[in-house]
Amino acid sequence: MLKVGVVGCGGISGSHVPNWQRMDDVEVVAVCDIRPEMFQKYPGPAHYEDFDKMLDENEFDIIDICLPTYLHAQFAIKAMKKGINVVSEKPIALEEEDVIAIYETAEKMNVKYMVAQCLRFWAEYEFVKSCYESGVYGKLLTANLWRLGGYPKRSFFDWYTKKELSGLIPFDLHIHDLDFLVYAFGAPKSYVFNRKELPGNDYLSATYDYGDFFVNTEASWYKAGYPFYMGFRFQFEQAVVALEKDGLTVYDANGNRSKPLSGEVGIANESDFDLPSGDAYFNELRYFANCVKENRPVEKVTKESLLTVLHILNEMK
Ligand SMILES: NC(=O)c1ccc[n+]([C@@H]2O[C@H](COP(=O)([O-])OP(=O)(O)OC[C@H]3O[C@@H](n4cnc5c(N)ncnc54)[C@H](O)[C@@H]3O)[C@@H](O)[C@H]2O)c1
Repeated sequence: MLKVGVVGCGGISGSHVPNWQRMDDVEVVAVCDIRPEMFQKYPGPAHYEDFDKMLDENEFDIIDICLPTYLHAQFAIKAMKKGINVVSEKPIALEEEDVIAIYETAEKMNVKYMVAQCLRFWAEYEFVKSCYESGVYGKLLTANLWRLGGYPKRSFFDWYTKKELSGLIPFDLHIHDLDFLVYAFGAPKSYVFNRKELPGNDYLSATYDYGDFFVNTEASWYKAGYPFYMGFRFQFEQAVVALEKDGLTVYDANGNRSKPLSGEVGIANESDFDLPSGDAYFNELRYFANCVKENRPVEKVTKESLLTVLHILNEMK
């Protein structure tokens, strides 16, 4: 049994704790939060209001960090110094030196570390990456990715809305799409961006030039109560692969449309892909658990790719 401790029982923990609990070979031994009222939803594990005490009183294989962004690096380093493997919510940190310190600690302590960049484990995004790599629809020409929503209204002492704590729209939201681009295509050759940041409003658009193709992206925290909407359109020579409100669709040059992850077919389906449409939050935790269990390197999320992403985001601050 892998023994897991989760620190931070706010919003995103709801995508972590139940997923750990779905795994037969994992036991969530304890959860930690400075607000005890957050424990109600997790009655099974032991409850701690103090992280040091939780580490002292239990043996863990994995600590899972679901804390606000500004605490990620220091809590990861503390757990790794006790010889515990760490998986952390994104972003890894706001500063590049914290990334270096995290990986230095992991190496020195001979433990594994992974930041859970969920799009790397998201079936629809993996599908696009595989289309690019196989060339099944020809070369990639252009892409659009968007991640839109309203300004964060409620969080633990409003940390989301404080630049020095969350990094605002670049580090909190746009990071997902940029991280996917770097994961799938490597570092862009160049980029331009525009940002409108006002009280209660933050909007960023960025265009990444990869030489053979370019990618437009948008991220928003609108003041308006705009419902969260993420998606993409990738224009290949022979097809458009789109994730929109009706899910993933491939529109090909012959006028056919197919739903490759559900197997649903419009007129014809020439796609060879048969990827499972799983839950990215489960997939990322399962991947890390397997790396720990089988003592395999965490190859899917590398320090170099995270540094590339952070370097670009820091120019958008
Ligand atoms: N991957 C995704 O799709 C995704 C989505 C949402 C949030 N996130 C990330 O998850 C992280 C957490 O976001 P959230 O929305 O859950 O935040 P949140 O504010 O809802 O929850 C954070 C929790 O941490 C607790 N906490 C704060 N300081 C603590 C301490 N010193 N010790 C123990 N507990 C402490 C708070 O009481 C709170 O319950 C952020 O970094 C965010 O960027 C990722």
